[in-house]
Amino acid sequence: MKIVVKSSELRRDSPCAFVPTMGALHAGHASLVTKAHEFTDHVIMSIFVNPLQFENPNDLARYPRTPENDIELAANSGVSELWLPHYDEIYPAEIEKISAGFLGTLYEGATRPGHFDGVLTVVQRLFDLVKPRWAVFGEKDFQQLTLIRTLRSDVKIVGAPTIRDIDGLALSSRNILLGEKREHALVISQALFAASRESDLTQAQIVLHNILASDPEFRKDYAEIIDESPGVKRAIVAGWVNGVRLIDNMSMERISS
Ligand code: PAF
Repeated sequence: MKIVVKSSELRRDSPCAFVPTMGALHAGHASLVTKAHEFTDHVIMSIFVNPLQFENPNDLARYPRTPENDIELAANSGVSELWLPHYDEIYPAEIEKISAGFLGTLYEGATRPGHFDGVLTVVQRLFDLVKPRWAVFGEKDFQQLTLIRTLRSDVKIVGAPTIRDIDGLALSSRNILLGEKREHALVISQALFAASRESDLTQAQIVLHNILASDPEFRKDYAEIIDESPGVKRAIVAGWVNGVRLIDNMSMERISS
């Protein structure tokens, strides 16, 4: 695996698949690289903690950074080029800021104003510099994936399934901040799995809310069953455990509209 700092050092000899990340890599990121290999062996991963998508400076300061582990995991998962850009290359004096529009103000965007504007702005910039043919994003950040799909047509956006720990917790870079309260985060996936076994929408909503309410250490932000596309429902959940914001989602395949 080659490590590069400037995008001009990236190989241009074959179309690449791109896995943008903010580091603190885990098996979920490795699965994105595996997905990228379905398209090509030329897989570029970036690690850039994007200040523009953090509306809260404390959250940015606290975001986990594990550079040595990241390099090892990227190499072992099959990344061909690991790009570690400097801030100035991503954000030169003048760049176009992208608005995530109305969808960017809902759910995650309601609690984190401007978050998705920051995500779309950095992804657009990363795409401009890498020029990938494919780009892989996790379904765990479902709203992010949905918004990125609307960004441009020259990059094929590929979604990859959420990877979970054996006890159901969706892998997230933030999980290491949970510490001894980790077990309280399990209520999220327990609620999603239980709701997904229901075939009636109202019953699924009751199950979702009741299980989330059963753990006093989980502070709910939102828990909703939305229309992902005509006839397809998805439950989306966000909240805090031990001050750590967690999100998760699951397709509600048994509910028909
Ligand atoms: O999902 C992430 O890690 C980030 O939001 C992304 C897509 C790399 C943009 O900074």
